[in-house]
Amino acid sequence: MQRKEFIKLSGLGILTSALSPALAFCNLKSQKRDVHNAGKMNPDFNPDIEIRLTSAPTDVQLFRGANTQVFSYHPELLKGDDPSLQTLQNSYLGPIIKVKQGQKVRVIFKNQLQEVSIIHWHGLHLPQEMDGHPMYVIDKGEEYVYEFQVNNRPGTYWFHPHPHGITGPQVYGGLAGLFIVEDNESSLPSGGQDIPLVIQDRTFNADNQLVYLQNNRMVRMTGFLGNQILINGQANNSMEVAKGTYRFRVLNGSNSRIYKLAWSDEEEITVIGTDGGLLPKPIHRPYLMLAPGERAEIWRDFSQQNSGNEISLNSLSFNSGTSMGMMGGRGMGGGMMGGMGQSASGTENGAPFTLFTFEVLAREGENKPLPESFSPVDTIEVAQAVNRNAPRQFNFHFQRMQWLINGQTFEMYEVADWEKVKLNTTEIWEFINGGSGGGMGMMGNMMSMPHPVHVHGLQFQILERDVSDVPQNVWQTVGDGFVDEGWQDTFLLLPGMKVKVALRFKDHTGKFIYHCHNLEHEDMGMMRNYEVT
Ligand code: C2O
Ligand code: CU
Repeated sequence: MQRKEFIKLSGLGILTSALSPALAFCNLKSQKRDVHNAGKMNPDFNPDIEIRLTSAPTDVQLFRGANTQVFSYHPELLKGDDPSLQTLQNSYLGPIIKVKQGQKVRVIFKNQLQEVSIIHWHGLHLPQEMDGHPMYVIDKGEEYVYEFQVNNRPGTYWFHPHPHGITGPQVYGGLAGLFIVEDNESSLPSGGQDIPLVIQDRTFNADNQLVYLQNNRMVRMTGFLGNQILINGQANNSMEVAKGTYRFRVLNGSNSRIYKLAWSDEEEITVIGTDGGLLPKPIHRPYLMLAPGERAEIWRDFSQQNSGNEISLNSLSFNSGTSMGMMGGRGMGGGMMGGMGQSASGTENGAPFTLFTFEVLAREGENKPLPESFSPVDTIEVAQAVNRNAPRQFNFHFQRMQWLINGQTFEMYEVADWEKVKLNTTEIWEFINGGSGGGMGMMGNMMSMPHPVHVHGLQFQILERDVSDVPQNVWQTVGDGFVDEGWQDTFLLLPGMKVKVALRFKDHTGKFIYHCHNLEHEDMGMMRNYEVT
């Protein structure tokens, strides 16, 4: 496949989205009204770090033989110390932007794709114009300037494109990077033992070219699922490690694949951090569920290993609860039931994979004991929530051949009454998968899937995960893998699940989005605005 074809393919999502009538091609063209004053450089802003990021088609050598056409952010450090901008070795993915809390950052985003784009800083607490709302998309050749001060807790955040309707293909093409806010935890592994692991699934054709969704509605409904795992944008899934302790910053950067992370030697997963930074103390799990968009920081001790040992980080098999009841049998394309969740050439969500293999060297590395605790994490005061007796409910469900939130699809500027909140208030939001929003209960909601729920603009806390309506055969396979402590910006909402979260709206008024982080669901409109006034 030539470069042109790949670009066309990435646009295919729009042109064929008969599934989502609200999303017409001309819509994208008119996305830019009223927003021309955003994204301009302010000469009075004096950044500590200034970076130019140019998104463009490029090609890389991933395999023997033909190069692979991808999309890439080309980074340039204009101001700041070298460590603030790191590229992943031999990778088209990234870069990694490293900052300290309080630093001022300017990013000049230049779009050299053949289609509109914009960057979203996933997990950062920023004003509306800095957040990458799809209303701010820019055309090829244009620039959007981000200027902000980083006030998030130290932690592992990330960035990726967010143009409405084509986020999936742009991320899939290779546009994603980490945004790390550094901490001063000298008790944790550092340097070469603090390692990012961005997990993504891809499918390649015989010419080494990426295959996205072919013109297949059902696969779009499920989301893209590839048959091969890339780590940090590379096909070679192994690295050598010293005998010592490691900190892994794991991002699930996949479009729709969920991972059930486990060590091959059955050691427990030691989780030290979530989306919004370090936990108050390490937590141990037999395995860890990681949905698209989520991050987990994992601590691991290789110091007692013999050199030559190989330990893998795997994804174990599980039941994702995907069911396409209403279309069973021959309804849509035949063989749907058995094949549901399968991509054109992929493997269903919940299939086992070896993700990455660590080969232990004879060399001794840095060896620090697992700290008993980290800095305390503030808790949102639920008693002060303005709606503590009647949380807002957000029903993620399927209806009229679409994935919807409370019966609604995305509209660029629209905010419903039930999406308006007040600045400086705390609220409880309840997210429900497959509830009564469409006038159908669990049983009537014949198409069900897990949805990774993401809210822009803030970090929230999970109060309660009600699993009483989650099918037993699903829960049994995943139930021990959740970490609900600490700060989150994305969480997995399984079929039948109800999750209550506490959110605090502060500092910024404006429109922010919340959506399913299954990128194909998001592109199809499983996304809405909320507005802080
Ligand atoms: Cu990482 Cu709105 O997304
Ligand atoms: Cu979804």
